[in-house]
Amino acid sequence: MIIPKPVRLDRRPGRFVLDDRTALTADPALSQVAMWLRGELGPAVGGELLPREPASGTIRLRLADLPAEAYRLTAGPGEVLVEAGGPVGAFYGAQTLRQLLPAHAYRRAGARPMELPAVLVEDRPRFAWRGCLLDVARHFMTKHHLLRFIDLMAMHKLNVLHLHLTDDQGWRVEIRRYPRLTQVGGWRRESQTGWNGAMDGQPHGGYYTQDDIREIVAYAAARQITVVPEIDLPGHTQAAIAAYPELGNLDTPLEVATTWGIGVNVLNAEDGTVEFFKNVFDEVLELFPSPVVCVGGDECRKDQWKTSPAAQRRIAELGLRDEEELQSWFIGRIGDHLAARGRRLLGWEEILEGGGPARGAVVAAWRGDLGAVLAARAGHDVVACPNTSVYLDYRQSDGADEPVPFGTVLTLQDVYAFEPVPAELRGTPEAARVIGAQCAVWTELIDSDRRIDYMVFPRLSAFAETVWSGPGRDFAGFSERLAAHLERLDAIGVEYRRASGPLPWQTRPGVPGRPEDPREWRATLEAWTSNLRGDL
Ligand code: ACM
Repeated sequence: MIIPKPVRLDRRPGRFVLDDRTALTADPALSQVAMWLRGELGPAVGGELLPREPASGTIRLRLADLPAEAYRLTAGPGEVLVEAGGPVGAFYGAQTLRQLLPAHAYRRAGARPMELPAVLVEDRPRFAWRGCLLDVARHFMTKHHLLRFIDLMAMHKLNVLHLHLTDDQGWRVEIRRYPRLTQVGGWRRESQTGWNGAMDGQPHGGYYTQDDIREIVAYAAARQITVVPEIDLPGHTQAAIAAYPELGNLDTPLEVATTWGIGVNVLNAEDGTVEFFKNVFDEVLELFPSPVVCVGGDECRKDQWKTSPAAQRRIAELGLRDEEELQSWFIGRIGDHLAARGRRLLGWEEILEGGGPARGAVVAAWRGDLGAVLAARAGHDVVACPNTSVYLDYRQSDGADEPVPFGTVLTLQDVYAFEPVPAELRGTPEAARVIGAQCAVWTELIDSDRRIDYMVFPRLSAFAETVWSGPGRDFAGFSERLAAHLERLDAIGVEYRRASGPLPWQTRPGVPGRPEDPREWRATLEAWTSNLRGDL
C-alpha cells in the first residue's frame, strides 16, 4: 500500500487507533518533523495530537543508530515508533506513517478516528538524488501552487526540486541589482498555444520576490527537499537580453520570447556579461543554500557567435578553437565563481562539449542515455533525466484526448520501467557515478496547474519508486498499491490522469501538437548528441 515501496514491510497482528487522545512525542533533534506531522494529522483527527502522555496511544519519534535517510517504523496497539538517525529519515518514516492511515488522513478537515495496521517497516532510498525539474519560466507557477507541489514531492520522498527559473520566455526570480530582469523579463506579450500554432493574445508573466524564494526554500527544507536553482545560460537567455540589451549580440532590441523552440539569441562573451552573471549568481547563492547550483548550458545555438565580429575577436583573444570552446569558457568562468564560494556546478550534458567542465561538476544527462555514459566515464557525477523515459511533458497516449500532444508516448508503465543506471554502465565502476535521477516538467505546452496535475500524476508516483525502491520492482505490484495511492491523491485534490475520462478539458481543435514517433527517436538522438561523440 506504500508508494514508493519500502525495502521491507511485514504485517503483524493488531492495529493502532489514531484519535484526538493520541499523543505525539519526539526527541528534541526531531522536533521539526514532529511539528510537520502534528500540522498534517491534527486536522484529520479533529484537534491537536497531545504533547505528552497519558494518552490513548502514542506516536514516538526517536533517534537510533541508522543512516541519515533510513528509518524503522514499528506500529502496534498503543504505540507507533519511528526510529531514525536524524530528521531526514524521521521525516520519511512520518510520511510512511501517514500512508498507513486511510486516505482520509490527507484531508484538511472533517475529523474521523482512524486506524493503521500493526507493521514493521524498514526502509532507505536507493539513490541520493531523487529529483524533479519544474519549469516555472515558460509558464509561471504561483507560489501557492509551488508550495503544494513541494508537498506532493515530499509525499513521494523526492528530495531535489530543480527550479528552472529563467528562459527565453521569462525571468522568474527577483535580482535586486538588476530590477529590469523581472520588471521587463518577467512578462511576455502573448504565448504560442500549440506547436507552431496560433498565439493566444494574452500577456503572461510573474516572478518570485526574494522573500518568496526564502519562504519556498525554507518550506522545502522543512520537507527535506533541496531547491536547486537554475539560471540557464548562455542560451535560453532572451528574456534577460530583452531586459538588458547589452548582454546580447544584436544592435536591435528584443522582446521576451513568445514562441517555443530553441532560440537563436544567446549572451555575448564580453567581460561585462560574465561579470553581470557573477553578480546574479551572488544573489542566487544568498537565497539558495543548495550545495549544487545549475547554470544550464543546454541547447546553445552558436549562429550569432559565428557571425558576430566581437564574438570572433573574443575567441581569438582567448586563444580558443571555436564557438564550442567559447561556451565552455563561459560556463567555466561561472563555474570558477561558484567553486570559489563552495558550490558545485550542475549543467546539462552539453557542458561536456568544447572541452568539458571542471572536475566536480554534476552533469544532467537528458538526451537518451549517451550523455550519462560519457559523463560518468569522464569522471563526473551524473543525474539521469533522459527525455526518452522521464520527460513528463511528453504525451501519455496516442489517443486524441491529450491536451496538446507532444513528444513520444511515455505511459505510466514506461516511466515505471525507467532504470537510472544506463545499460552500458551496469556492472562497471562508473555506475556509482550515477547519483540519482530526475523527472522533468517542462511547461511550454502546460499552461495551468490543472494540466500540471494531469501530466505529472501518477507518473511521478512511478518515477518515485524507480529512484527510491530500486531494482526488483514490479509493475503489477505497483499498480495494486497505486489504487490506494490514487485515493490519497483524490483526498488532496490532485487531478491526475485517470485510466478513462472525463478529462478536465476538451481537446481544442486547431491547436496542433507535435507528436513524435518513437521509431524516429534513435536518429534524432544521434543527431542531437553528435557533438558529444566527437568530443569524448
Ligand atoms: C532540455 O530539455 N533542454 C534540458
